Amino acid sequence: MSSQFSYTRIAVDGSARAGIYHTPHGDIPTPIFAPVGTQATVKSVTPAQLHELGASLVLSNTYHLYLRPGADLVAEMGGLHSFMQWPNPILTDSGGFQVFSLAGIRKIDADGATFKSHIDGSMHRLTPEKSIDIQQKLGADIIMAFDECAPPHDRAYNEQALERTTAWAQRCLQTKTRDDQALFGIVQGGVFDDLRIKSAEWTASQPFDGLAIGGLSVGESKTEMHAVMDKVVPLLPQDKPRYLMGVGSPEDLVNGILRGIDIFDCVLPTRLARHQSAMTLTGRINMLNAIHTHDPNPIDETCSCYTCQHFSRAYIRHLISAREMLSSTLISIHNLYTLLRLVRLCREAILEQRFTSFAQDFLSQYNHPVK
Ligand code: GUN
Ligand code: ZN
Repeated sequence: MSSQFSYTRIAVDGSARAGIYHTPHGDIPTPIFAPVGTQATVKSVTPAQLHELGASLVLSNTYHLYLRPGADLVAEMGGLHSFMQWPNPILTDSGGFQVFSLAGIRKIDADGATFKSHIDGSMHRLTPEKSIDIQQKLGADIIMAFDECAPPHDRAYNEQALERTTAWAQRCLQTKTRDDQALFGIVQGGVFDDLRIKSAEWTASQPFDGLAIGGLSVGESKTEMHAVMDKVVPLLPQDKPRYLMGVGSPEDLVNGILRGIDIFDCVLPTRLARHQSAMTLTGRINMLNAIHTHDPNPIDETCSCYTCQHFSRAYIRHLISAREMLSSTLISIHNLYTLLRLVRLCREAILEQRFTSFAQDFLSQYNHPVK
């Protein structure tokens, strides 16, 4: 456990919590949404713009930075905060999940994972020790245990993956030496109640600085995702932050906060922006649609982001048709602002003890995108 981090719970409303996570690079108000900067950049958005959006925590990836430009280069440049010029808190994922979702041929054994780079086909190996070593060189505030995320409905696979995840988590705890970094453990176990409970109880018993729930939003239903949170969260300590990995649609954020989650991350706002889709608190808007051609109004009348304060739907649609890259920047700014605004609204509702009705109202009026 690192003494340079602490979670202060300020208010509780049902299972939802509002708090502050103190880190060496500043305070994170929770619940919080973390924009994803996979390759040490949140795609199409500058750090100054991120700051203006009110972002506090940014996520980056061990897998990508290890392959390119390499952890030694980032360390030589003064670490990730200095390299990407984000002076506020950073979290790095451990690489486990990315190896399983991105890398080519991979072989997983008790000791670690061997995989083929998605960039040049070269062969590499990650182990718990290697992942922690890389994350220590990168120097993020929050680092993650090296885990294995199995297909959610495969019982035998999940049993084996959970055994490995548990053994690897112990090795991560033993390897870590820096005390200006917080190490979070990850609960796995697919959709299986007994495996999730076993994983949650064990992970909660270890000296991790925070607890994450992994293996969700990977093909299971919303009902199954909620059931896993309902089983796992009550077993987690009250005095440590809880992080739901890779989850970040507006309805998933509200459903997670309702169940006691503090931290979320997702590529959705920036990925949707590059596909011309604007997020609002009532649903998504396809900005390429011809109905916007003559529309002088902003994406969202209720939004006070830079994009909505200055630009019309007609202009944004024009940028998209003309293949101008500013369209991605403007929609990314708006989408990120929308999720940051949503978690801020949730936090205020928790502080004022009206979160249950806020969540009910939000979920009943939200227009769920058709898959
Ligand atoms: N990102 C989304 N899901 C996961 C997961 O299960 N493990 C890790 N390490 N990262 C994730
Ligand atoms: Zn906006």
